[in-house]
Amino acid sequence: MGAAKNLILVIFISLLTISPLLHAKIHEPVRATNGMVVTSEKLAAQAGLNVLKNGGNAVDAAVTIGFALAVTLPRAGNLGGGGFMLLRNAPTNEIIALDYRETAPKKATETMFLNKEGTPDAALSLNSYLAVGVPGTVSGLAYALEKYGTISLSQALKPAIDLAEKGFIVSQELATSLSTYKDSLAKHASTKQVFFKNDGNTYQAGDLFIQPDLATSLKLIAQHGIKAFYQGELAEKIVAHIKINGGIMALTDLATYKPLVRKPVQGTYRGYTVYSMPPPSSGGTHLIQMLNMLEQYPLQKMGATSPKTIHLLAETMRRAYADRSTHIGDPHFVSVPTQELTNKLYAKKITQSIKQNKASLSTAIKAGSPESFSEKHDTTHYSVMDKWGNVVSNTYTLNTSYGMKGVVDGTGILLNNEMDDFTAKPGFKNAYGLITNEKNKIEPGKRMLSSMTPTIVMKEAKPFLVTGSPGGSHIITTVLQIISYVIDHKMDIATATYAPRIHHQWLPDILSLEKGINTDTIQALKKMGHKVEEMPPSGAANSIVFQNNVFFGLADPRRLDGATLGF
Ligand code: GLY
Repeated sequence: MGAAKNLILVIFISLLTISPLLHAKIHEPVRATNGMVVTSEKLAAQAGLNVLKNGGNAVDAAVTIGFALAVTLPRAGNLGGGGFMLLRNAPTNEIIALDYRETAPKKATETMFLNKEGTPDAALSLNSYLAVGVPGTVSGLAYALEKYGTISLSQALKPAIDLAEKGFIVSQELATSLSTYKDSLAKHASTKQVFFKNDGNTYQAGDLFIQPDLATSLKLIAQHGIKAFYQGELAEKIVAHIKINGGIMALTDLATYKPLVRKPVQGTYRGYTVYSMPPPSSGGTHLIQMLNMLEQYPLQKMGATSPKTIHLLAETMRRAYADRSTHIGDPHFVSVPTQELTNKLYAKKITQSIKQNKASLSTAIKAGSPESFSEKHDTTHYSVMDKWGNVVSNTYTLNTSYGMKGVVDGTGILLNNEMDDFTAKPGFKNAYGLITNEKNKIEPGKRMLSSMTPTIVMKEAKPFLVTGSPGGSHIITTVLQIISYVIDHKMDIATATYAPRIHHQWLPDILSLEKGINTDTIQALKKMGHKVEEMPPSGAANSIVFQNNVFFGLADPRRLDGATLGF
């Protein structure tokens, strides 16, 4: 009897001990076994899921999502912008890096964004029609579909056409975003016509939002293919609108635009193989460089958000972003030491200057010499996996929210302001506070430096993790932390996505922390010499992990409209 009493007591005490865990908010990934899409907007996610359910592959779904987001997520989804798609083609077991980044128009010049005093004028590089790079999205998505998809371009466009023509109910997130940018959107009559109602307000949550001009543009592409956009009626409208408003893009810029297939950058991290985007994005190169640096430390033992781990992450980021400022540009125009920057020996060399308990000063850190070894920021990322092992990791953008804010008259198409990602003048900052130099100077036909980091991680030659994020300069550090949380700290993808993020980009010399890092840790970091600041939510990683034949996904809760859909 006494033993039984003791047993009950032990069970009671155990229950008390674990009850906080039972009540704790545990973030669960969404599970599926046949296929999954993870995006920052639910209607586009549903369109992608329908494609998978109807037997389409991951590329079919990804291209469908890309066009649908141009309708439902106008701040970043686009026809008038560009991006990067990393895809795994299961039949050949190849990883392909598709670069559909914008190019500088042929009339672009090195000094086009300098004012009379010779200093960069952000109003020109961000808000004028000079800011528009030659858009690559339509051509890039169509290329991926033709080469690796199974459905036709018109099938992939159908959900987008329906969403534009029949309209959709505006979410709170879209309403808030439109109202945030109300003043700058209202500066363009053509933009006002799309995003404002007759009463002079932007669309509100619950309103039906119809975009008839955009529907017509999408139908033209469905009928005539990409020619409609690059040579036909739409090309003429785009060029005429830009010209009349002081821009320099010409018909020949559109007619000669081509997406490029590149070899992904590749590295390893604690036994996993990491593939990501090569230049002109800096994302993949610096992701692998930082992973090589972090691999030298026992991060798992140090703990996920401990002062030691955050210090090492920050020092790693500081050094990689110093290199970014100097070494990367469009490889068709300048030599980029990608191999050297992603070499493990180079990582070993630069980590020698990291002190275990003391922050470096960014002014004392310069870009290394890898040759010695052999606005609110808006972009959107989505990930797709299918049951055949095809994987798509796609990040595309208009640059800042709604790009340069101008809609091409009569088309519903918003234009990017990607030219701001070039070096307006060596040593000066762009919209993300990033400093770049000579290698990224403006040249006709050149692609501007990017941070987009669509990534696929493989384990024993099988897809394991697909991830990526928006966030301008925060993209690379967000992807880095998702990988580290999953691989070093063994978190499931939901916990890894919710976990607080940090960011350091060399200059300004600030360690930015999301809410959720405890006060003792912040004090310890300050004691090491870090200049710590709280930052708003950083990035929006939409990721999927594939393990034991199950897809585990999560749309980043930092964006309210995200959706993780599988079947
Ligand atoms: N426009 C932001 C980026 O490409 O990094």
